[in-house]
Amino acid sequence: MQLDVFTLVPQAFAWLTEQRPVATVLGGELDLRLFSYRETTPLRGGQVDDEPYGGGAGMVLRVDVVAASLDAAYGGPPPQRVIALSPQGRQLTQEIVEELMAEPHVTLLSARFEGFDERILRHLATDAISIGPYVLSNGDLPAMVLVDAIARRLPGALSEGSGELESFSAELGGGLEYPHYTRPAEFRGWRVPDVLLSGDHARIESWRKEHVR
Ligand SMILES: C[S@@+](CC[C@H](N)C(=O)[O-])C[C@H]1O[C@@H](n2cnc3c(N)ncnc32)[C@H](O)[C@@H]1O
Repeated sequence: MQLDVFTLVPQAFAWLTEQRPVATVLGGELDLRLFSYRETTPLRGGQVDDEPYGGGAGMVLRVDVVAASLDAAYGGPPPQRVIALSPQGRQLTQEIVEELMAEPHVTLLSARFEGFDERILRHLATDAISIGPYVLSNGDLPAMVLVDAIARRLPGALSEGSGELESFSAELGGGLEYPHYTRPAEFRGWRVPDVLLSGDHARIESWRKEHVR
């Protein structure tokens, strides 16, 4: 899968690309490309945003700047989904992650300050995604959330089986995963449920099913 992220701070993604599972699939199942609006802006001095028409606080990411970046990368309107990261977007769920993972190529647009000129959302993006009902300073963390959520679902990202049986998966009926415990079996009088120490796989299986939340 190819994921292209358009941002003002491509260097912010450095740590993400060094961490598993993103690092594991990079260069294989995942091709992550980072584009800086500043490198292709048609404006002088690396300008990318401007004051809002009608007044008000904050700066707005310009439509001509984003169009120039997309044109430089794709040479015209791209055929793939171009997703703007915005608090006004469709709220991210595991279902949306699975939907994106099935795409061969996805573009993510990040903004900052007051956000996007509305024409970017209407004419350059195909849709918008929010990572939750709160406001962050810019779209880079939301882009990283999406990259991580998608990357960990790609083949080879996780050890065998660990990506299927987890919270929100079809295998758990969309529910939340059962509790996990590890050594020590007792700590400060807090004991691991006996069934998990029993070695009886059938009982463990049914305990886990009962404890899907
Ligand atoms: C400070 S926010 C803009 C908030 C906007 N003025 C509003 O009131 O909805 C700047 C940028 O951060 C990103 N952003 C902030 N919160 C987000 C969220 N919950 N989901 C996705 N992107 C978000 C978007 O790219 C947004 O344009």
